[in-house]
Amino acid sequence: MTLFRATVFDTPVSPFEGGTLRSQEDCGLLVEHGIITARGDFSTLHAERPDEPVLDLREGLMLPGLVDTHVHFPQVRVIGGLGMPLLDWLDQCALPEEIRLSDVDVARGVARDFVTGLVDAGTTTALVFGSHFASAVDIMFEAADLWGLRVTTGLVTSDRILPEPLLTTPQRAYEESRDLASRWHGKGRLRYAVTPRFSLSASDAILESCAATFREVEGSWFTSHVNENSAEIAEIAQLFDGASYVDTYDRHGLVTPRSVLAHNVHPTDAELATLAGRDASVAHCPTSNSALGSGLFPMRRHVEAGVRIAMGSDVGAGTGFSMLKEGLQGYFMQRLLGDEGLPLTSAHLLWLCTVAGADALGLAQEVGDLSVGKQFDAIWLLPEAGDPLAVGLGNAKSADDALSKVFALGTTADVGGVWVGGDQIAAGRWRMPPSR
Ligand code: GUN
Ligand code: ZN
Repeated sequence: MTLFRATVFDTPVSPFEGGTLRSQEDCGLLVEHGIITARGDFSTLHAERPDEPVLDLREGLMLPGLVDTHVHFPQVRVIGGLGMPLLDWLDQCALPEEIRLSDVDVARGVARDFVTGLVDAGTTTALVFGSHFASAVDIMFEAADLWGLRVTTGLVTSDRILPEPLLTTPQRAYEESRDLASRWHGKGRLRYAVTPRFSLSASDAILESCAATFREVEGSWFTSHVNENSAEIAEIAQLFDGASYVDTYDRHGLVTPRSVLAHNVHPTDAELATLAGRDASVAHCPTSNSALGSGLFPMRRHVEAGVRIAMGSDVGAGTGFSMLKEGLQGYFMQRLLGDEGLPLTSAHLLWLCTVAGADALGLAQEVGDLSVGKQFDAIWLLPEAGDPLAVGLGNAKSADDALSKVFALGTTADVGGVWVGGDQIAAGRWRMPPSR
């Protein structure tokens, strides 16, 4: 049992529904077996339990662990390929790298780099776009399990258009997916995600095999890409006889409350209505959309249509693992949309990077904020003296202002500690898997 003492910021109620930032100075959080069992003024909690060990983190700020709902494990080493639209970037940057993961030694190194990226950024829960190779997905599950991260991932499947080493057949996709799911789905904090790459590279036959896996693996998740880039959308319409991009998935029963579709930069109203009606979620990936020039995410239309949204880094088209950077870029985008944009506060950004992600992944009962009954997934921001964030926090006029400074100035270097389910997995530059 540990009594944490910190300034705690979280957003238990959505700011899109009237919620505000909950900030508590000198807050006490009692954590037992990884779960927050009491919360209140530190002095009150401490007086009630004078013998419990106290971890004094009053310097800096504590936030819930960050949630990334769209991040590609095989692309960690190609982050930063700028200057290309989606389809050129796939051809020139992503796909050649992804082919290398057929080699298990390469896959092990990439998985190590990837998990390090997540941990250092304070991402404790992620929906991870896997690899086309079952052996590499196995390695990813193993790495996530070692660190205790809350990872949902699976085999990426495609049966057309991509380079030949990345292609499979509907039958083989089904068999390999079922095999991976049987070994990893529900083990510890891991779950299986059925993952056709995108309809452009997935025929109806392979989408139907995905649907079979999704139906048969109880509690599995579905993820893919949708409406990211205009050239891609035009090709989809040709390939599927004019069907909308969302419909290419929906007609196979793949758009559900357990579905997270990345991007949706260019949806029609009918597609938004389908997503809302099915209670599916959209992963908004602003640095990726900006880097690839995909477009400005119509957040207002999503919110007004009642579509659930969360945030994704989309590493490696996205420019890094920092969900703080995604929040800031998401804010910029809504500003650039002028009257069509949604004005976002720092509380919206924190909610989008924590509770909204947990909700999209069906984990909102367990993580996303630091209320009693939740798992202790948390990060401690401790900027070094003189660091821009330290200067900003030292001059913040209010808690909301301090949180704005976190998004404007915070980097992964400011993450001073990371806990998942009560286990500390990183402290400053030190990081280590928990011993279990
Ligand atoms: N669409 C299909 N594959 C990808 C990918 O790897 N990244 C992005 N951003 N979009 C995709
Ligand atoms: Zn992606």
